Amino acid sequence: MTDIPGAWKPKNETLAKANTVMEAAKASGDLYRNGLGMIASENIISPMVQKIVSSDLHGRYAEGLPGKRYYQGCDDFDTIESLGISLAKQVFGAQFVNIQSTSGTVSNIAALKALAKPGDKITAVSTADGGHISHARMGAVGLRDLDLSTYPWDIDRMEPDIDGACKLIREISPKVCLIGQSVFLFPTPLKEIAAAAHEVGASVMYDGAHVLGLIAGGQFQDPLREGADIMTGSSHKTFPGPQGGFLLSSSEDEKMQKKLNNAIFPGVCSSYHLHHVAGKVVALAEFEEYGEAYAKDIVQNSRALAESLAAEGFDVLAESRNYTASHQVLTRHGDTDSGAGAKAAKTLEDVGIITNMNMLPGDTKAMTPSGLRLGVQELTRVGMGKTEMAEVAKLFARALIHGEDLNRVKQDVKNLKSGFQTIRYCFNEEEQSGYIL
Ligand SMILES: Cc1ncc(COP(=O)(O)O)c(C=O)c1O
Repeated sequence: MTDIPGAWKPKNETLAKANTVMEAAKASGDLYRNGLGMIASENIISPMVQKIVSSDLHGRYAEGLPGKRYYQGCDDFDTIESLGISLAKQVFGAQFVNIQSTSGTVSNIAALKALAKPGDKITAVSTADGGHISHARMGAVGLRDLDLSTYPWDIDRMEPDIDGACKLIREISPKVCLIGQSVFLFPTPLKEIAAAAHEVGASVMYDGAHVLGLIAGGQFQDPLREGADIMTGSSHKTFPGPQGGFLLSSSEDEKMQKKLNNAIFPGVCSSYHLHHVAGKVVALAEFEEYGEAYAKDIVQNSRALAESLAAEGFDVLAESRNYTASHQVLTRHGDTDSGAGAKAAKTLEDVGIITNMNMLPGDTKAMTPSGLRLGVQELTRVGMGKTEMAEVAKLFARALIHGEDLNRVKQDVKNLKSGFQTIRYCFNEEEQSGYIL
């Protein structure tokens, strides 16, 4: 029988659909409760953040800025957002912050709206070298109709070829020099790039989506003091808040600050998900207390995982630089463009280890890459340390190198995870009985 749009259906049929959603959400929670979440862009939220994102705020509007609203009923939310602005300035060491953005991509769209006009030139890392889709013509850069040139890439150092990047900037005089990647192993030598950019009158925009928690925790680099004019980021990757974004700047120029605020509202947001903004503010308060320790433990764990994987026989990228200085580790599983990364990710999923396939330098096709990108921020958040990183590497080897029975490996993944169900580096840790769905 075909569905007729708008036709009345018996309640039990429609309820069954809603129940399907509830069951699938529960199953997704079980997958992570029993497995190892190792996608580098993800995290889990604290008990207090979980409470506030399901508060009444989720249905409210507060267009404008604290004290200057288009709707009544915003006084309490003004308290929240004002506190969030001052906390974010402190945590990120920024002169200006806007905490309304609903995602890292939205922050990028807003920043590009404020910094450039259609037709202007922009430089960025290519997606093949690890740049994000919002840095490409297919994403925000194209949406703003910017003329993109990509930096040359240093494969050994896994960062832009700095001399080449500075030469490009001086040659083409872009309006914006965009720095930062989705594959982000090492801090970018920003001072040199910023010097070239400022010489030609360009703004430096640093996309810290992935590494924001490491930056705020003082464990990566300090873009706003190394020459970045603007920093964008997600609030839910190494910064462990609810999904959302930040727009930050070192600029004291009120005209620029107004431009940035306007780029968010009315530029790209109307309602900006007040429950998530409130969640970000709680996460900022938690980060003030626990952020430095969390960021330190993440970087220590990613190094430990990389070393353990190499010892198990995996080809881990950037050996000459000790593999990583962030939350990420990259592994190669076969020839360029062979799809071996996709196959490895599927096998790992079969044993309850959730990762993503990733293009490595040389790969040309996103669906058949040779690599895996791993992140340790979620495992760190539930209390895993160096010992567990060695165990995780062994589980990888059993599934991917030794060809062990996958059901047995899956059981051992579950056993390992059963001891790590409490979210750390947050308030009210003790109140929490289980892994948050
Ligand atoms: C470098 C970079 N920028 C922006 C984003 C987009 O973030 P969001 O998913 O919050 O829109 C990502 C996502 O992973 C990213 O890697």
